[in-house]
Amino acid sequence: MISLAPLHSFALNYQAADILTFDSVEDLREVAKHLDIFNKPHIILGSGTNTIFSSDYNGCVIKLESHGLSTHQDDEYFYLTVEAGYEWHQLVKWTLANGIFGLENLALIPGTVGAAPIQNIGAYGIEFSDICDYVEYLDKHSLEIVRLNCDELHLGYRDSIFKQQLMNKTVICKVGLKLKKQWQPITSYSGLSGLNNANQIFDAVVALRQSKLPNHIKMPNAGSFFKNPVIDKVKAKSLRLVHHELPLYAVTAKQFKIPAAWLIEQCGLKGRTIGDIAIYQHHALILTNTKSGTGAQLLDLVELIRNSVLKHFDIRLEPEVKIIGQSGELDMDTL
Ligand code: EPU
Repeated sequence: MISLAPLHSFALNYQAADILTFDSVEDLREVAKHLDIFNKPHIILGSGTNTIFSSDYNGCVIKLESHGLSTHQDDEYFYLTVEAGYEWHQLVKWTLANGIFGLENLALIPGTVGAAPIQNIGAYGIEFSDICDYVEYLDKHSLEIVRLNCDELHLGYRDSIFKQQLMNKTVICKVGLKLKKQWQPITSYSGLSGLNNANQIFDAVVALRQSKLPNHIKMPNAGSFFKNPVIDKVKAKSLRLVHHELPLYAVTAKQFKIPAAWLIEQCGLKGRTIGDIAIYQHHALILTNTKSGTGAQLLDLVELIRNSVLKHFDIRLEPEVKIIGQSGELDMDTL
């Protein structure tokens, strides 16, 4: 058995039946051809910062740890080709050190490059979709490498084709990014206003994130636990009549996003604990494993949060993280 605690940032103390780690997609493909690993219970894991193991896992954890990085350019763009196992934050630092700008707002996002397209990572005014050129994946069934261009990935708010039609069917092996040489700072977020130097924006984003989000090495967590719910105009209007302070951010002319953290805080739950699982005192969207939490405690706290928000606001919160049970991903709506 393999200990899962060091493999996911929420660090629950469970075990998996087996683990396979690969340095290249070619090695993975060879093993898949001969051992049929994709037809047995398995999970593909990056650095485990958005996945939580809520029990022992009766399958094989598969990690693709390829780290290649190359660039080329034309008059308008820098093009980066990055292999799946590269750490996202290291990539951001590498680009800045090499005079390539455009990733600075996405500093300190935990996880690997291969995980970035799956939930279309985003922060401080930029999403992966803004800088994506293409994604290459290994098709688990045909074992062919397939390339999809950005417009074929159906990238949306914390969503992509990899969470829809291609869910559990691929291993992302390479990501192509496209960064404009004519760099424009994105400083719409209040803590960044007035900055017009990419390194300063990087420093400001790092400071902002460090002030709000706990470091998972010191306090195990999985970043934002829930998605920020999107509601329509009619619902937004009726909620504002009751909750005058309700923060609303326009997504389209007819849709608004509400910070899930605000909803949870309004339910009086900030700081609430069940066993060793807590709602972080400084940011209600983060759950932490304060000592030796269990999956049952986590699921109880998640249920408490979802039921409270549903009761107070008639809004159903959807987890942003992936929660894994004994035989695979849990469907939170059927628990
Ligand atoms: N708020 C509260 N209580 C809290 C914390 C926040 O009421 O305890 C309210 C405040 O009104 C605040 C608003 O929530 O203005 C938004 O909070 P924040 O700016 O911290 O952002 P967020 O909506 O919680 C999102 C992303 C983060 C990303 C930040 C910054 C999601 C689910 N999360 O968080 O992404 O870093 O914006 O752009 O969209 C992640 O996905 O893991 C993640 C960290």
